[in-house]
Amino acid sequence: MQADSCTYVIFGATGNLSRIKLMPALYHLDVDNRLPKGTRILAIGRRDWDQARWLTEVREMIQEKIGVKFDEKVFKRFSERLHYHRGDILSQQCYSELASTLNAEIYPKNMAFYLSISPSEFGEVMGFLSEQDLFKEEFGWRRVIIEKPFGFDLESAQALQKRISHYVSEEQVYRIDHYLGKDTVQNILVFRFANIMLEPLWNRNYIDHIQITHSEELGISTRGGYYNSAGALRDMLQSHLLQLMTLVAMEPPVSMEAEALRDEKVKVLKSIRPIPKEAVHAQAFRGQYAQGTIKGEKVSSYLQEQDIPSDSTTETYAALKLYVDNWRWRGVPFYLRTGKRMAKAQSAISICFRHPPQQLFKGTQVDCFNPNWVLLGIQPEECIRIEMTSKEPGLEMRTRTSSLDTSFRKDHEKHIEAYENLLLDVLQGDRSLFLRFDEVEYAWRIVDPILKTWATERDYIATYPAGSWGPIESRRLFDKDSQDWRSTLTPECK
Ligand code: BG6
Repeated sequence: MQADSCTYVIFGATGNLSRIKLMPALYHLDVDNRLPKGTRILAIGRRDWDQARWLTEVREMIQEKIGVKFDEKVFKRFSERLHYHRGDILSQQCYSELASTLNAEIYPKNMAFYLSISPSEFGEVMGFLSEQDLFKEEFGWRRVIIEKPFGFDLESAQALQKRISHYVSEEQVYRIDHYLGKDTVQNILVFRFANIMLEPLWNRNYIDHIQITHSEELGISTRGGYYNSAGALRDMLQSHLLQLMTLVAMEPPVSMEAEALRDEKVKVLKSIRPIPKEAVHAQAFRGQYAQGTIKGEKVSSYLQEQDIPSDSTTETYAALKLYVDNWRWRGVPFYLRTGKRMAKAQSAISICFRHPPQQLFKGTQVDCFNPNWVLLGIQPEECIRIEMTSKEPGLEMRTRTSSLDTSFRKDHEKHIEAYENLLLDVLQGDRSLFLRFDEVEYAWRIVDPILKTWATERDYIATYPAGSWGPIESRRLFDKDSQDWRSTLTPECK
């Protein structure tokens, strides 16, 4: 069933996110005939552009993204949906003019306001929209999509929530964590809850530890201003990595309906053992990239990047050890790490099982006796692998690690960008892949003691060469000598 037509109002439409993700995603939805008839996309921008100039810009955004796949005919249809509204989003005038523009017949009265703007402006912009009664659902639904980060720490997130709750109800709010829109991330739920095989093993009795890694080769590029005040812990860990962790650790929900799903995710976040101030160093590690080499090319250190103060101690690498104090996971460490300028761009979840109770093959010529691993490749490699030990053919009793592989995508199946999924869900009123405020709040609670401690320690930060797997000292987080960071999705024989 196709959703009702709607007006997408995009704040920050000329910015980076819109350029590389939002406009291409909307275009792709149009290619697939998923945008309901009559849907309009109204861009709000400060620049003095007319309609023709806006269309040229959008054409460039899409061509840049999809290259030769650009389709003139589809673009013509798409461009008929596009409009530009010039205004300063921090001035009241912008909103009175916007309200009268939106009164015009051509704009469907179901409206989604996408805030792709600086997080410090979320509250104010929503205040202005509310003043013009643009959130009133008299003639159609009104929804607001808020990009991350929602707040800067626990206190500011609570303050922001308090403010916006005067303007909208929770049902109208769509807090984005774009990881939840990725196909491979949704596949975690399917893998866990559509197959019975692993369920009996998915707990403290059989699992030794779990690792979640998101590494990037890219540095911070031109985002220095934002990144230096955020750091890796806020930018990636508090949001995307904790979300991945909830999906791996949650109990089966009553249904796949939004509230049921989010209830279970919140339970995981609530069960994470709080990190007291004295334990911050035992459970968290930060680092910053120094000069190094990526794909054979020399790259600068973080401190040499644009807009970064020369004495910055902002982390570009963060690693964390967390425990989930519930019946299923008590005692199983979850190791989370993320970093910029690392050896390889990769997101993966690696689940390490315990060794069998007795090593029957000890003392024979068995030289490769690894524990079982379940590996979930999120990107760029999309896969599920289960590593097992098997006998090598031949007269000797030798073993090797083999893996059972399910590649996620068949050759002819196309890749869907996370934003396509999410923008469509907003139209359909499905909030299951968006964050409820309590999820955001509990996620801040987990990282807040670390943020506070690191904020006071400004004279030293460990460094790692760009192009490496991060500071070696982060290994001190591991509970046992047998544990170490897993960086590959192919069998590692030790
Ligand atoms: C964003 C972060 O939320 O996610 C970026 O702000 C990061 O710093 C990006 O690079 C990673 O997303 P993806 O989809 O490219 O893995």
